[in-house]
Amino acid sequence: MHWPWNNRKISWEVLEEIYRAKKARVIGVGNFNIEQLEQLKQDAKELPVANQIEFHPGLNQTELRAYHQKNNIVTIGWGTMKYHDSLPETCEQIAREYNKTIQQLFLQWAYQHQSLIIPKSMHKTRIIENSAIDDFKISDEHMKWIDSLPQSRKGPDPNNFYFGN
Ligand SMILES: NC(=O)c1ccc[n+]([C@@H]2O[C@H](COP(=O)([O-])OP(=O)(O)OC[C@H]3O[C@@H](n4cnc5c(N)ncnc54)[C@H](OP(=O)(O)O)[C@@H]3O)[C@@H](O)[C@H]2O)c1
Repeated sequence: MHWPWNNRKISWEVLEEIYRAKKARVIGVGNFNIEQLEQLKQDAKELPVANQIEFHPGLNQTELRAYHQKNNIVTIGWGTMKYHDSLPETCEQIAREYNKTIQQLFLQWAYQHQSLIIPKSMHKTRIIENSAIDDFKISDEHMKWIDSLPQSRKGPDPNNFYFGN
């Protein structure tokens, strides 16, 4: 379920039906916050396997990811490579220290936070670049520094996002 919009209880019941009929291997949600996941849990027979959320160094979602972990929900990030323009130049410098691009640094940062990413690019060279991240590890010190960056949502807020339907 892409967004926690109205009628989500009924939408989830339909997804559960699809799952029970073995027409989907797993079912999950996107952009749910903790409160919305708690509401879903109250009525759900199946819990979401994953929640795809805005997730990048400028919005590290610490609390929501901890909730996911406690409830066996996989964190999938979106926007992980997109929003680096508003972050300090030091991010680029750190990436250079590892001989990587800032996109690779942020993807690796997400993986080191046990989160899945579905990197998107229209360019073959970038797709190859984005897959070349398993040959380095970000140090604890750098992880802590990245995690301390100013936080703000860049995409819509799940609490008051009107999806237009
Ligand atoms: N659940 C949701 O609400 C939600 C919301 C948004 C996105 N998504 C999904 O999340 C996945 C990720 O998409 P995303 O939109 O969040 O963006 P993303 O993967 O974080 O970043 C994609 C953007 O970064 C550029 N890019 C990719 N690799 C690059 C590289 N190596 N160097 C420089 N630029 C690079 C791409 O441009 P080029 O294509 O020009 O390379 C594109 O503009 C997609 O599957 C998308 O459908 C889900």
